[in-house]
Amino acid sequence: MAVKITEIEDLKKVDVSKLVEESEAEGYRFLRRLVDQYEDGSNTFNKTGEVLYGVWDHHDQLVAIGGLNRDPYSDKEGVGRLRRFYISANARRQGIGTKLLQQILKDAQGHFSELVVRTDSSAADAFYRANGFSGDLGLPEATHGIVLEREHRKKAE
Ligand SMILES: CC(C)(COP(=O)(O)OP(=O)(O)OC[C@H]1O[C@@H](n2cnc3c(N)ncnc32)[C@H](O)[C@@H]1OP(=O)(O)O)[C@@H](O)C(=O)NCCC(=O)NCCS
Repeated sequence: MAVKITEIEDLKKVDVSKLVEESEAEGYRFLRRLVDQYEDGSNTFNKTGEVLYGVWDHHDQLVAIGGLNRDPYSDKEGVGRLRRFYISANARRQGIGTKLLQQILKDAQGHFSELVVRTDSSAADAFYRANGFSGDLGLPEATHGIVLEREHRKKAE
């Protein structure tokens, strides 16, 4: 599937209703939270290093969303947190999640030294591990993490 990854500058201008409904039907509440917190201004992904992306297919349908926040749970400097990461069910296992994650990892270089994420899904566990994340880095509210500087060094070696 040919897709276009575009930064979302203003979520209020994007129709996310289908994805929100689909995610809620699957039992995920975090896209509803994304919309609510965007509307009340508590999380608009606009701090330094933060970014929110949408992925559109060739019919201009929004098929995925994913964001990067400064980690609100950690006191440690330089920790970013992947959040609101969701690929529509009929767009899964086609590499879209990987593309979106790679874009976010690229953006995170220079702003963050490590990224964390929290998930309790085994599919997401497999996905993050397939993309270089390891288990718990010992940071709060996180199940997986990746050290960016080390990744960077590996590439440079
Ligand atoms: C987890 C999720 C983001 C994966 O996105 P995706 O676009 O399907 O992932 P990709 O196609 O890039 O998968 C890359 C690799 O990850 C692994 N993987 C992804 N989904 C998997 C699954 N359901 N079971 C096992 N391995 C999986 C595989 O190794 C896969 O490579 P392969 O397809 O060649 O075997 C997607 O399933 C999703 O949005 N799920 C619901 C919401 C969610 O759990 N979000 C994460 C919350 S933190």
